[in-house]
Amino acid sequence: MSNPLTDPTSDPTSGSGSGSGSGSGKSSGVRAGSASGSPAGSPRTSPGVSPGGGDHLDISRRRLLGTVGAAGAAGLVIGAAGGAGIAAAVSEDGSAAGAAGPGALTSVGATQVAFHGRHQPGITTPLQSRGHLVAFDLAPGAGRKEAAALLRRWSATARTLMAGKAPAGDTGIALDAGPSSLTVTFGFGRTFFDRTGLASRRPSQLDPLPAFSSDAVDPKRSEGDLWVQIGADDALVAFHALRALQKDAGDAARVRWQMNGFNRSAGATARPTTARNLMGQVDGTNNPKPTDPDFDRRIFVPAGAAGAQEWMAGGSYAVVRRIRMLLDDWDQLSQEGQERVIGRRKADGAPLSGGSETTPLDLNKTGPDGKLLVPDNAHARISAPEQNGGAAMLRRPFSFHDGIGADGTPDAGLLFVCWQADPLRGFVPVQRKLDRGDALSKFVRHESSGLFAVPGGAPEGEYVGQRLLEA
Ligand code: HEM
Repeated sequence: MSNPLTDPTSDPTSGSGSGSGSGSGKSSGVRAGSASGSPAGSPRTSPGVSPGGGDHLDISRRRLLGTVGAAGAAGLVIGAAGGAGIAAAVSEDGSAAGAAGPGALTSVGATQVAFHGRHQPGITTPLQSRGHLVAFDLAPGAGRKEAAALLRRWSATARTLMAGKAPAGDTGIALDAGPSSLTVTFGFGRTFFDRTGLASRRPSQLDPLPAFSSDAVDPKRSEGDLWVQIGADDALVAFHALRALQKDAGDAARVRWQMNGFNRSAGATARPTTARNLMGQVDGTNNPKPTDPDFDRRIFVPAGAAGAQEWMAGGSYAVVRRIRMLLDDWDQLSQEGQERVIGRRKADGAPLSGGSETTPLDLNKTGPDGKLLVPDNAHARISAPEQNGGAAMLRRPFSFHDGIGADGTPDAGLLFVCWQADPLRGFVPVQRKLDRGDALSKFVRHESSGLFAVPGGAPEGEYVGQRLLEA
């Protein structure tokens, strides 16, 4: 029998798999919740399955039980999402249940994220273990018509791939993989609007970011007419999507720059934890949470907001920075020194003012020597919303490592991606402050920069950006 999750020729949304009725064999994965500190929070969903649909979970549970059964494990945790936001199948002794039987996908491969929705996927989706960030410029002579056709093609391909299916003329790179939490997110850069004759509809939020004194930005690796973010929990699935979208670009657009990143893989930690970056810090703890009452207002453009472009309703602005970490210098610091740079403990991310990872920072607490426990130039202090008039953003980065640089040190760091309803009330004020007095500045270098308007999610029957390109 064809397995809709492993057979790219079968349609996982057509009900051709095992089971019947809504949310049965056609659903493909565990809809993971989000642990505190994860940049994620909105559950991963499956098309055609209503939120909270019990059937879906039951089927997933059966599928996973089959998987775990093959591994001989008795216990199972479903829907546990870590900082990396990954649903995990874990045996009673805490070890991952990895020996899937023939035809069975683990929750990693089976998890599917919905393409259609109020927001584009890849913003509140739990961090995936692989990512590609790619900017394209429209080809000379390509304008609004070609851009609209391209977004239509890209949306169709993204929808197909995110459902774990193969697009026409497929390369076969991910033939035997499930959707693997693939997300594809599309954005428009400032220059897109001039090239398409849409300058009057460019939001003021796309005005160039101010120059920051510590920037060492390479224009060739910055900005771009169009931006695509790909995330997946499998490297081949992510590359497959990258290839398909590049091929779709055809004569309409050319790659301007590409960056490849990664996060921790599912099952690598026994317990769900917030992600770590390449400096070894727990990173993502104090992200705004989707359960916060003001989350939507801070991260997404509201419909009908004064001065906003209506086509951006439900959208968000992404600031993208390739931040090189000067790891050789960083490693010279003692662990205590490293912890004072951030203001948090390295082992568990707890504030230096005490408590556990999720304890709020006490910025006024002093030690027996009368000195502030969270130093006055600590990164976590300077970037805290209360120090920046409430400015907040959702940080959703990937790490990168591109070998050894010309200077003989690792060309590694953070593909910093942050999301906000308005960069002037998110990234800009915080980076201004960090630029002036952050203890971390000595150990990082911003090497590229991009600002992109990421429209709201496409409703069924529409493509991403249609309300801009066809209105
Ligand atoms: C390679 C560069 C960076 C590294 C390694 C880094 C690392 C960290 C770490 C370890 C934390 C504490 C844990 C947490 O709350 O996530 C943190 C917090 C934070 N960082 Fe960064 N960060 C970097 C760049 C930036 C940049 C460029 C911005 C924005 C302009 C930023 C904004 C923030 C914010 C808003 C917080 C939360 C502060 C709070 O509310 O407590 N970070 N960062």
